[in-house]
Amino acid sequence: MLQRNLFIEGFLILEAKKENSILHFDHIVIGSGLAGLSSALQLGRFGRKVAVITKRAIDECNSKLAQGGVACVIDALDTFDEHVRDTLTAGAGLCNEKAVRAIVENGPAAIDDMISLGTEFTTRGELGYKDDSTAFDLGREGGHHKRRILHAGDITGAELERVMINAVRALPNVQVFEYHIAIDLVISSRVEPGAPARCLGAYVLDIDHSSVVTMLAPTTVLATGGAGKVYLYTSNPDIACGSGVAMAYRAGAKIANMEFIQFHPTVLYHPNVRSFLISEALRGEGAVLKCRYSRDAEPQEFMQKYHPMKSLAPRDIVARAIDAEMKATGEDCVYLDIRHMTEEALKLRFPNIFEKCLSAGINMAKDLIPVVPAAHFVCGGIKTSITGQSSIAGLYAVGETACTGLHGANRLASNSLLEAMVVPRLAAQEINAHFAELKAAYPGDHAALGWYCGNATDADELILISHNWDEIRRFMWDYVGIYRNNKRLERAKDRIVLIQKEIDKYYRDFYVTADLVELRNIATVAELIIDGALARHESRGAHFTADYPAPDPSLECVDTVIVRGQPIFYEKN
Ligand code: SIN
Repeated sequence: MLQRNLFIEGFLILEAKKENSILHFDHIVIGSGLAGLSSALQLGRFGRKVAVITKRAIDECNSKLAQGGVACVIDALDTFDEHVRDTLTAGAGLCNEKAVRAIVENGPAAIDDMISLGTEFTTRGELGYKDDSTAFDLGREGGHHKRRILHAGDITGAELERVMINAVRALPNVQVFEYHIAIDLVISSRVEPGAPARCLGAYVLDIDHSSVVTMLAPTTVLATGGAGKVYLYTSNPDIACGSGVAMAYRAGAKIANMEFIQFHPTVLYHPNVRSFLISEALRGEGAVLKCRYSRDAEPQEFMQKYHPMKSLAPRDIVARAIDAEMKATGEDCVYLDIRHMTEEALKLRFPNIFEKCLSAGINMAKDLIPVVPAAHFVCGGIKTSITGQSSIAGLYAVGETACTGLHGANRLASNSLLEAMVVPRLAAQEINAHFAELKAAYPGDHAALGWYCGNATDADELILISHNWDEIRRFMWDYVGIYRNNKRLERAKDRIVLIQKEIDKYYRDFYVTADLVELRNIATVAELIIDGALARHESRGAHFTADYPAPDPSLECVDTVIVRGQPIFYEKN
């Protein structure tokens, strides 16, 4: 029987049902992308019992789709200082410099670990270079002044995920729960009103058996990835619903900087191909953005009007420039021109993208590639320290769901895979060092932690779910996209408030399903993005609003922080 719980004014109604099962672990990790599996691996190496919860198959994640690579200081001519500088510049005055430096400096050790586990990064020899042929080929992407992107062809994420899955599967103390979707976190203060909040685990829907399991542990790591599905057009896969941010928000954690949604400038524009990224690494190899200014003329380069780095400018600038050119010309897309490379070289360097484009009738060596911007990355998230610690004891967040301060107002390309490998290592070290205290403070045998289904029944119709899902994604794209203003944001706010009410009622009345869990999370994240955008009275990085078109110097290094039940506030990061 499907079960559900009720939070009345934030408190769990304590009534365990006999169908409810409770499982105990030392560590719970929610999410099986690179950050989740890195966490499971690092924690698992200490020998304790780890559960990995993932809502689909283990390898269905956003990390797997990452094409570009991992930004890391490898080349003798590169320096940590330069990588830090590029990150701070892209981050537009909102990065936490200490976090940036720690992540950049811990990069090489994380890369060494991945190599020792069997990761095969592309070497120069494989690309036909005769000099230095055993050295790794280093790519370049927007905002980087040096070549520093380690890659495995153009399927870097898939290679890292392959290696991580093997490493995690090899640990007998790590148990992977596929097709299990976390509904909400178990928080002590809901069970014992007045007690300091501590995360005790999660309520998890076993999708195949339609039952809810309470999974408990002294530490829970959220590694649920991004939230691209909040928007109509996105480079993200269907699983990217922002569930970590939504659950942490409902649990009372600090959520920061949700207004900074990064739009990737170049997603393939084609009627039969959905959400396919054309990596920024193409521009790193000299591809140029062009726009068609009249029907019969060849498209022309335009980025020189916007930034000295032209097509390789930071992503927020390129995405806005494309948006502006498309609006000015009325064109449906712009184009990427990489015809200076031969077919042979393109197949070696970008085999996956070449094949995909060819299957859509585009030969990159001969044709222009039609592209448009699409939602790609959430720069904000659950506010954490550099070791992943959230504002709630026992709750950690890593990867895209977290806001460590690395990305600021706009993420530097390929810094996210770096963060997804480095922060879980730092988090695991800290958790391990304090595990005795964490365990002592954890009342995990509390009898009242079960899931309760109240008077819920089977849903009478499912149209609310699909309708609200579509409506949110459409108005988020139209009103809370690349170009914002107060009027649009206020419209979006009015709509999301209504939709949230409908979802709340539906959630209370009917048994919980995976679709409902995702819709509820999407709606929560959409509202957090809107609230963050309404609160930030300036334009900075990925947040542009016509009502405040310039950055406000007093908001430099100042996060927008949202905590459930409190007015939004600002906090120096
Ligand atoms: C890309 O390959 O363009 C994506 C890289 C990233 O988002 O970091």
